[in-house]
Amino acid sequence: CGIVGITGNENAVDILLNGLQRLEYRGYDSAGIYVNSQDGKEYLVKEKGRIDDLRKEIGEDVHGSSGIGHTRWATHGVPSKENAHPHVSADGRFFLVHNGVIGNFAELKATYLQDVKFASDTDTEVIVQLIAKFAKEENLATKEAFKKVISLIDESSSYSFLLMDNREPETLYVAKNKSPLLIGVGKGFNVVCSDAIAMLDQTHDFIELVDGEIVIVKPQSVTIEDAQGNIINRKPFHVDTDASEAEKGAYPYYMLKEIDEQPTVMRSLIKHYTTDDGSVIIDDALLDSMKKADRLYIVAAGTSYHAGLVGKEIFEGLAKVPTEVHVASEFGYNPPILSEKPFFIFLTQSGETADSRQVLAQVNKWGYESLTITNVENSTLSREATFTLLLYAGPEIAVASTKAYTGQIALEAILAKRLGEEKDVSAATSFNVARELTTVANGMQELVDEKGQYEQIAANALATTRNAFYIGRAIDYDVAQEAALKLKEVSYVQTEGFASGELKHGTIALIEEGTPVIAIITCAKTAKHTRSNTQEVLARGANVINIVSRNLAEDGDQIILPDVHSLLTPLLAIVPCQLLAYYTSLQRGYDVDKPRNLAKSVTVE
Ligand code: G6P
Repeated sequence: CGIVGITGNENAVDILLNGLQRLEYRGYDSAGIYVNSQDGKEYLVKEKGRIDDLRKEIGEDVHGSSGIGHTRWATHGVPSKENAHPHVSADGRFFLVHNGVIGNFAELKATYLQDVKFASDTDTEVIVQLIAKFAKEENLATKEAFKKVISLIDESSSYSFLLMDNREPETLYVAKNKSPLLIGVGKGFNVVCSDAIAMLDQTHDFIELVDGEIVIVKPQSVTIEDAQGNIINRKPFHVDTDASEAEKGAYPYYMLKEIDEQPTVMRSLIKHYTTDDGSVIIDDALLDSMKKADRLYIVAAGTSYHAGLVGKEIFEGLAKVPTEVHVASEFGYNPPILSEKPFFIFLTQSGETADSRQVLAQVNKWGYESLTITNVENSTLSREATFTLLLYAGPEIAVASTKAYTGQIALEAILAKRLGEEKDVSAATSFNVARELTTVANGMQELVDEKGQYEQIAANALATTRNAFYIGRAIDYDVAQEAALKLKEVSYVQTEGFASGELKHGTIALIEEGTPVIAIITCAKTAKHTRSNTQEVLARGANVINIVSRNLAEDGDQIILPDVHSLLTPLLAIVPCQLLAYYTSLQRGYDVDKPRNLAKSVTVE
């Protein structure tokens, strides 16, 4: 979910709505705002669906100079108007938006609120009703009631809260635990948001908050109190991102824009991490720390996890260091036996994924060093890891990740090159990463310039299919998994990525007349074997489409990839797959940037 707040600005409604629109990547099943005009008028408007639906609901007279807003990704309670935030206490006094999950909400409800009639099924409403109860029955000031409720929330919970009391309409009460939240500092007004991107039109100066703090935000002041009640002075940090980078310009969809930006992302990484003579710039302390490690543990979720699978090949190939890749939500509760000197790498586009974050918290408790590779400066995983490397890919807005995936792989290659060089591995010393990535950038450009053919293949093979398979071996299998995720998340076609040799051990039973099977063939060692697996499915009626590196191409192959270094072929092979997913989604009539049930940044476990 995404939350925003503002105090001290007559345009509160517009600022909240524009902010929420920028946060839609965090969830978009329902939304709402509460605004107060300071002259006795207040408005609460909620709607199921997107921010545009909420905009339509908001009448001419809705106005105010302070307010809070929320865009939701449902956890407790179905997406509906009733379950949309802000939630209001039964006495109509307190309004609350919340991102996170309250673990013990049912107990709190049963213990304290049996006599209260609830308007929603959410855990959030329990919190706002409880604040109202303590404020009234114990005659507590709002801050004290808020603190008391927070003290009753159990450790497992995550939250960022923005609370308003209509008796103090200029004040926003703020608190967080595990979920991200920033205060944006303006002139004569202040804002609150889950991600700086929401408020870049208002300010570029943000204050980060620490778990357990209570913050009182007024038009002219921001007061931060730690858990013991001490006042904390914290300077804002400056965010350089230009708000226009988050706009899609002439593109119909963000996903297409972000696919097209991939050659630029490669060049930007070369610029940030290498010098003109081709040497790699990586912080010495990070290198020292990685050099000591006997094993790397890559931890990530979703597409970032798939970038980790390719990372394993790259770190083992260039730096000769054994590497394991783990799904964050599994590692958290079922960790592997660690080596003697582990080093942890967190891959995360957003830097906010709760599953990854809880592993990092554990790694910090164990006392091991870690690196976060992320696209978002100052994000939670960046702040909490020992080291950070940034992707410099520009904001990624489409829910389906594209340029962050290729950016992560390219940065892994840069890092592995430098690490391998430090360890005197010949595969690394002879690898000119700047030159290889330039070749990749040019190859990507060739691919994105040929969009018509992917649109055609999608129309012929994928637009009406029930299911589909991507297959490959070795590094191509890693890509097959990401390709399958892309297609399924935006087109809802049931798609799996398979090790092509494994198909015959069961899954081949699913192949019917016309089932699309897309084979990725960039690895010379395994090309022949994957081709024989395509013969097996052809013989059973499959519609086979080959995506093949130019040097391995044969007559009849449909998609040809420019040749690049053997460890970097995923950077090219994924591009046609991203475009196939994009066109399939459009041909099926879906909103490709905001697929159903998903959110880009999932800040609950
Ligand atoms: C969500 C998104 C995925 C993304 C994953 C990890 O599930 O829908 O596209 O890959 O989170 O996100 P991260 O920001 O940690 O890379």
